Amino acid sequence: METPLTQHIVAGRKPLSLKEYEQVGGYQSVRKVLKEMTPTEVQNLVKDSNLKGRGGAGFGTGLKWSFVPMGPDAAMPKYLVANADEMEPGTFKDRLLLEGNPHQLLEGMIVAAYAIQANISYVFLRWAYKLAAQEITKAIQEAYDAGYLGKDILGSGYNLEMYLHTGVGRYMCGEETALLNALEGKRAHPRAKPPFPQVSGLFGKPTIVNNVETLCNLPHIVNNGVEWYKGLSKSADTGTKLYGVSGRVKTPGCWELPIGVTIRELLEDYAGGMQDGYLFKGVLPGGASTDFLVEQHLDTPMDYASIQAAGSRLGTGTMIILDDQTCPVGFVHNLQHFFAQESCGFCTPCREGLPWVERLLLAIDQGRGHPEDIQALEFHTKYLGPGNTFCALAPGAMEPLQSALKYFREDFERHIYEHHCPWSKVWQPSI
Ligand code: NAI
Repeated sequence: METPLTQHIVAGRKPLSLKEYEQVGGYQSVRKVLKEMTPTEVQNLVKDSNLKGRGGAGFGTGLKWSFVPMGPDAAMPKYLVANADEMEPGTFKDRLLLEGNPHQLLEGMIVAAYAIQANISYVFLRWAYKLAAQEITKAIQEAYDAGYLGKDILGSGYNLEMYLHTGVGRYMCGEETALLNALEGKRAHPRAKPPFPQVSGLFGKPTIVNNVETLCNLPHIVNNGVEWYKGLSKSADTGTKLYGVSGRVKTPGCWELPIGVTIRELLEDYAGGMQDGYLFKGVLPGGASTDFLVEQHLDTPMDYASIQAAGSRLGTGTMIILDDQTCPVGFVHNLQHFFAQESCGFCTPCREGLPWVERLLLAIDQGRGHPEDIQALEFHTKYLGPGNTFCALAPGAMEPLQSALKYFREDFERHIYEHHCPWSKVWQPSI
């Protein structure tokens, strides 16, 4: 099985130095695009590859690039931003790439920046990823010293500057327009879309924001071509995907696999199955802001269309497993606590609604719930759903809740009618 993105990442070993990376073909794609391809040809190649954004939304990468105004009259400067603000609960795939092989990310960024003719680029990195910050700082310096960054790269006449910007540890900064506000030194509120950043982004100029894993795919597509890339997958989607599994499984981890492996394969063959004494109850397939799937969905391929048809989203592809000995109400309450805390407070439904949902869930979890609380929660899943808030934070937060109410409703009802958490040994008095 080919694992192009992670082939040079070895657990416990420092990332490849620039010299070592060059020896295994590193930066060949930069040479190829700068010497042999026009920016439009690079855009078309990536469009043909059907690479979809790996940050969670799965928007076509080549299509996104094609919205950037090109030609001599296009607004300048243009910017490329690598979104490395990975903060989705349960998601740790970009960290592997950032700490394991930072030059691969830089190489992908140079390809992307050339394709849209950006001359300034940023890595927007999650504050907590300290080791990644060290490795990227070192890699950027090495790339400048070797002439892959800066003026007249490899004698091509193309210029690209690159900067590392570390965030402040807020989930909101991963939303691309909030990220751009943060980069501008403003409060990280989302912006209205449209206009999309491709047209009016950083400092009002055309900007592409791509996820780390998305960018790391680019050198391999350029070097090996579209047919090779399509052949890596097991489904209509193309390429490989970094999948993760966390929860009470025997060997939690992160693996690069053909896109389209099933949930069952990931759980049993890679994560080693459930730990002894625990049964599978449900799974959030793509991080905390996706809908639960249950036993009947175990044979669903982990690709965009199949997971959507099953009633959830592929999201970041990093699964969180719920077991039979964890209270689903407490589990969902914990998630809503995170989302309520991370709301930027800009729009009313999210700012007011998420803490209200959190309080209702806490009351139910502690045996203080009322039968009508379930209807109130259901109302909130719609009130905070798509189209009613400024960005995707609250609608994403509602996904695990709405599906928990669907699949684990009896568990919610037992808390209410028994006045305590059935998973807790301590009886909670009704208040
Ligand atoms: P989105 O669907 O609004 O946008 C995705 C990308 O496609 C953006 O770059 C956007 O500019 C572009 N796009 C979408 N519609 C477009 C249009 N009509 N014209 C031009 N460009 C368009 O999704 P969003 O809000 O950017 O991301 C939400 C996703 O992020 C969720 O699905 C969630 O799974 C994921 N997520 C990932 C996190 C992580 O740590 N990796 C954290 C939080 C959420």
